[in-house]
This record gives sequence, structure tokens and C-alpha cells, in this order.
Amino acid sequence: MRVLGINAVFHDPAAALVVDGETVAAAEEERFSRRKHGKRPVPFAAWELPERAATWCLEAAGLSPEELDAVAYAYDPDLAPAPGPDITAGGWEGLRTLYARRAPLFLRSALPGLNPELVRFVAHHVAHAASAALASPYDSCAVMVLDGRGESASYLAGRDTGERLEVLTLQPLPHSLGLLYESLTEHLGFLRSSDEYKVMALASYGSPAFLEELRRRIRVTPEGGFETTPVDWARYAPSLRGGGGWTREHADLAASVQRRLEEVILDLAYWLHERTGERRLALAGGVALNCVANSRLWRQGPFEEVWVQPAAGDAGTALGAAMHVSRELGDQVKPMPGADLGRSWTDEELEEALRRARLPYERPQDIAEAAAGVLADDGIVAWFQGRSEWGPRALGHRSLLAHPGRRANLERLNDIKGREQFRPVAPMVLLERAKEIFDGPLPSPYMLFTHRVRKDWAQHIPAVVHVDGTARIQTVAPDEEPLVARLLEAFERRTGLPVVVNTSLNTAGRPMVDSPRDALECFGSAPVDALALGPFLLRRAALADRCNPA
Ligand SMILES: [Fe+2]
Repeated sequence: MRVLGINAVFHDPAAALVVDGETVAAAEEERFSRRKHGKRPVPFAAWELPERAATWCLEAAGLSPEELDAVAYAYDPDLAPAPGPDITAGGWEGLRTLYARRAPLFLRSALPGLNPELVRFVAHHVAHAASAALASPYDSCAVMVLDGRGESASYLAGRDTGERLEVLTLQPLPHSLGLLYESLTEHLGFLRSSDEYKVMALASYGSPAFLEELRRRIRVTPEGGFETTPVDWARYAPSLRGGGGWTREHADLAASVQRRLEEVILDLAYWLHERTGERRLALAGGVALNCVANSRLWRQGPFEEVWVQPAAGDAGTALGAAMHVSRELGDQVKPMPGADLGRSWTDEELEEALRRARLPYERPQDIAEAAAGVLADDGIVAWFQGRSEWGPRALGHRSLLAHPGRRANLERLNDIKGREQFRPVAPMVLLERAKEIFDGPLPSPYMLFTHRVRKDWAQHIPAVVHVDGTARIQTVAPDEEPLVARLLEAFERRTGLPVVVNTSLNTAGRPMVDSPRDALECFGSAPVDALALGPFLLRRAALADRCNPA
């Protein structure tokens, strides 16, 4: 069966294609439109579809819209409160529902030839749950979905037996851990539904001074759900604008909320473990991008293994909805093969892009060796290889790389990217060496957990050690990521370090680079020393020689 999954209703519009149970392609619209998160999550934008991502998914598989067996739309308007006579009520919520109902017709306009009757609505949290349980390598597992909101819920807990999803708890709105965290994000001067990871980073600079009060305001219920009462954040620290000017109180507030979130997740996990007896847990929903909470859950929770969907935010519901409907149609759904599910270009196409831009480039015998040489000389490398990543993390396909042994490289990378200096950068490490350097769940291919850096190693890789002594690592297995593994091996031969700094290839406020053109624009505007575009290497020094002949 050929099933196209669509996420559109809130933000992170995305499309994914599942054919005969296999994930063939998945991409977020932002990588095409170059607008971060695709759109704002307001009712007025609910009709907008991931048109380019969906069109590309079909092209990638050589399919036309007529050849689809189903379209899985990751929101079910029948589960949302029915729109009343006043469409403006509840912040225009009814408008969102009306737009969702019209989605089959909007989809027909976006994908000419599509039969709108093939569109099936999938409950938002069921789609998230499938993106966790069905995409994971587990046959059966417990599943938790935690996010801001879906149609009328903010949390799902259950079990997926492989045959079906059994829902054990569905937490109705207005109680929502995700919305609570979002409102703090806004209070701290960051963009809500976007910058929550900055609050998590800020939390490590504070201590949980307000934890007791928050324990009274955020409580777990005996039914395996929770209650959240609105918090007047200004009581603890004044509101901020523009992402700067934070003080001890702001960091303490972030630390308190972060700590309470972790405690609640642990309680929910114990409840779920007791009910299901499962050894493994799959996680999704925007809150599951909180790698600090994930790590605490792995370390102190009842489950032996925890797997997190790399596109845990709403984008992932496109894939989950497609997997869910594939299973309903009788297909055996296979785990997702990796996170490299986006666009790629042939070597010929990449060379054509370089020629067109009239840039000086070389084709070294081995791009991994050449890039490792630049890194060992403390150069910054923009690394563009293979298919682009699914989810918000760069995983060695659209990455910015640096030497981890120089502490100053953290500031240098944050400067290049134009982002706040309290933000950490993360290491990639050869899987077979990870245990010796980092303490935490292994393998960790998607950067969804933080690991403690072992004491004897911290001094060797200061650029990637966060203020709390942790690092959000990506492990690299040679059979899964042969080119990145070769790069790490080549870097280790030169420096003795099997670790490279890896951050996403973009500048502040922009989506990750996706196409060769994006890569060249980024290279042209940011002080990066080299660009490894497929097998080709561009050096800034060569460019400078050409611009300023002696
Ligand atoms: Fe969601």
C-alpha cells in the first residue's frame, strides 16, 4: 500500500511516504520554504499544507497522486470541540476545526489528481504514538506521547502490541505539560512552540529554587495523568524580551520547571510500566525532544530501554499517521531505517551547482580524510552529505563540524550561527568508543539523550562539555553511517580524539540547510573554513585568493 502522511494543522508541516510498510521518504516543509517551523501554530494558518514536501515525497518514489492508496492526515476534527456559532470563540479554535475538515479538498488542490475520499483522519496523539512505537525497532512496547496539545488532549499513554495500539490514558486539555513549558519559554523572552530547548539549556545554569511550589501546581493523578494549574511566572522572575538579559532568578525558574517536568515524567512512566509490564518504552511528542528529561527517564525510570522518535515534534505525526494507516490497511510496518529520509543530490548535480556558481573547488581522493585534515588544523567545516535529516537535529548529513579540543570553538560556532552563548554544541563519536568517554544510553544515534562526560575525558574535549558536565551525543556506527565514521576515524588518527563537534548547518532563525544552493548561501555568508559538498571541497582560503589576488 502507498500511504502519504501529512502534518499540517499546527506547526512543523511535514510529509512522509510509506510504501508496503517501508518508510521511503520524509521531509519538513521548512526545508523547502526556508521558513523555520513552516508556519506559526495559529488557527488562520491551519489550512496551509506541506505542499512541496508532499510533492517531493511522491517524486522521490516516482509516484503520482493518483497512485496513492491513502492519505493519512494527522488530526481528527471529530475529536476537537465542535465549532459553535461564534467562530471567534476560544481564540478562533472553531476555524482550525473547519480548516481541518476541509483538508481533503485542500489536499486535492495541492496534489492535483488526488482523490479526496482517500484522505483518512488520524487522531493527533495516535499519529505521534505510531511515530514512536511503529518506527522504533521494538516488536511491542509501552508508548508515551507528551506534547502541547492535539485535538483535545495533551498526553497519551498506552501499549503497542505490534498488532494494535491500546490506549490506557488520554489526558484532556487544559492540563498540558507542553503548554506550560511553552508559556515559560515565552516569559523568558524566547519564541514559544519553537525555542523550548533554550529553556532546557538555560535550566542547567540555575538551581530548582521554586520546585516545592511547582510541585503543588503540577500534580500527577491516580489515573496516570496529571493536573496543571496556570503559573504566574512573574512572581518568580520578571518577563524578558528578545532572548537576553536573564538573571539568576530566570535560570532558577527554568531549572525548577525542568526538574518538575522530569519528576512528573518519571511518575507517569512508573504508572505505565506497572500497567503494561513492558520492558521497553517508545516516546514522541514535542516534550520528548527534551533530552535532559529523556536521560533522567532512562537513568531512573522503570524501563530497560527507551527509544525516541527523532522528529518527536509535530512533524513526526506525518510519518506516524502514514504508518498507522499502513497497518490499518494490512501492511506489516517496518521500523524507520534511519533519520536520513530527506533530499539528496548526485555528484554530477553537486558539481553542476559549483560550476554554475563559478567557485573554485577540488575533488580530493577521500572527502572524509580531507575534511578531517581541515578540522585537525582547527578549521570549521560545513558538511553536506547524502540525504538530509528527518527531525530537528543535524546527524552528519547537514552539519557544521569543529575540533572538540579547543574550548573557544563553542563561542566560535555560536558566533558563526549568531546564537546565544549559553547554548551548548554537541559531539559525534564513534559508537565503539562512546562508552569509554560518555556515560548514558547507547547507542544514541539521534541526539535525544544527554550523557555525562567521563572525568578523564572532559579536559580533552572542552568545547562539547556543557556547564553541568554533560554532552548530547550522537553515536556513529560504521555500518549505518560509513562516511561519517571514516571522518571520525581520520580525525582520531590525526588528533587522538574519536570525537568531533557537530551542530546543525544553518544560521540563527533559519531552517537547516537542505539543498546545495542553501549550502553555498550559508558558506558564502558565514565564516566557515571549508565546505564539503558531497565529494567536493571548497576552501575559504582559495576563495579569498581569488577575490584578493596578490
Ligand atoms: Fe503534537
